[in-house]
Amino acid sequence: MDVYIKDIKKQEWEGKEVTLNGFVNSIRKGKNNSFLILRDPSGTLQCVSHASDKTFEDVNKITRESSVKITGSIKKDDRSEGGYELHITGIEIYSIAEPFPLKKGHKKVFLFDNRHLWIRSPKTTAIMKIRSTVFSAIHEFFISNGFYEIQSPSFVGGSVEGGATLFETNYFDKKAYLTQSWQLYAEAMVDSLWKIYTVAPSFRAEKSRTWRHLTEFWHAEAEMAFKTNEDAMDLEEKLIKYIIKEVIAKNEDELRLLKRDTKFLENVVNRPFLRMKYEEIIDLANKNGLKLEYGADLGADEERIITSKLDVPVFSINYPIALKPFYHKPDPKDPKHVLCSDLLAPEGYGEIIGGGQRVDDKETLLKRLKEEGLDEKNYEWYIDLRRYGAIPHSGFGLGVDRLVMWICKLPHIMYVVPFPRTPRRLNP
Ligand code: 4AD
Ligand code: MG
Repeated sequence: MDVYIKDIKKQEWEGKEVTLNGFVNSIRKGKNNSFLILRDPSGTLQCVSHASDKTFEDVNKITRESSVKITGSIKKDDRSEGGYELHITGIEIYSIAEPFPLKKGHKKVFLFDNRHLWIRSPKTTAIMKIRSTVFSAIHEFFISNGFYEIQSPSFVGGSVEGGATLFETNYFDKKAYLTQSWQLYAEAMVDSLWKIYTVAPSFRAEKSRTWRHLTEFWHAEAEMAFKTNEDAMDLEEKLIKYIIKEVIAKNEDELRLLKRDTKFLENVVNRPFLRMKYEEIIDLANKNGLKLEYGADLGADEERIITSKLDVPVFSINYPIALKPFYHKPDPKDPKHVLCSDLLAPEGYGEIIGGGQRVDDKETLLKRLKEEGLDEKNYEWYIDLRRYGAIPHSGFGLGVDRLVMWICKLPHIMYVVPFPRTPRRLNP
């Protein structure tokens, strides 16, 4: 079995010999002793070599970020971080690193230019571990709630979320687009499987360069037959609470390293989420100093102000029809509004989920396509779904990167993506 640094920082390892692989986080060379901080995915460990040791010469050849295999005995030492230290008895050098370009205090652009190296930093490693927990929790949640995992194409022929953010690409002698959401395909697949979900990249040619927009993001989407907007909201709340509970249980060390207040997250798990109609959200915004009129769309800046004082997420429900794509079902009791909801995360983060109930009759769908200036011909197969056994159905899409950003309480979405894609960044 592989042994990691975290495992050996326990009493039963004291005095025992261990062999560890790792990278050299830092090294301090002295005349009598040299101290090397070894790093692996689980943490760091101080390793020491004395001038009288046969390893001393080799240890002193090592540079920062060199890769090594170290053997040594574990000793309790209250002065070193984690309370244990390793006395080096053997060392095998995989590779001596050239002078490492990353130092403390670099600007964000430089760090992202060197993301392939920066990715190994302890802070980024902690974020990626939390990200991993979030993805596995999503799968666990849906599978244990009776959903089928199913896939939709990434090359598509038309838009779901409006033409403005479509990425166009050549597709032999035709034009194709990169998918913005699986939704239209999900609405076909839901007729056979009834409860389905996917976790996949979605693409948006976002011109708005904000702290929460990527051009490629990870989308966890669900679609359910015979369910309403209310049912979708209930499930969304359970999903978010499950994910956060898992992160609290599995990533205590990482949350501590990121200085994330876990009490805040525990509170989110234990309290009901708020639900406010669009008009109430506008009122709340105006009470917080904004001057929004009915019909205003909510972007990153508005949602930042609306949610900055909240301590639980809020469902912003029933938007005016003009603010939402054609597929949202108008409320039969109030047809100027649609049966939809955005889930806004507190602490200024804003929208993490968009969802709602879908138009389920042909006449309304044709009318809505026309109002949005969309060509019926491009949606023929989608209209078919209202011709042959239409059913009430609902679904939603969770922006997984945005959720991770909020859970980690980071100031920019790029920090939570291994290799983020934005209008300005395609490399590395
Ligand atoms: O609100 P959106 O556009 O909704 C849809 O795509 C629906 N068709 C989903 C569905 O019902 N199946 O996107 C859903 C979520 C947003 O709430 C946001 O969290 C995330 O996807 N998102 C982005 N995340 C990062 N960068 C972007 N450019 C994003 N655009 C949307
Ligand atoms: Mg949205």
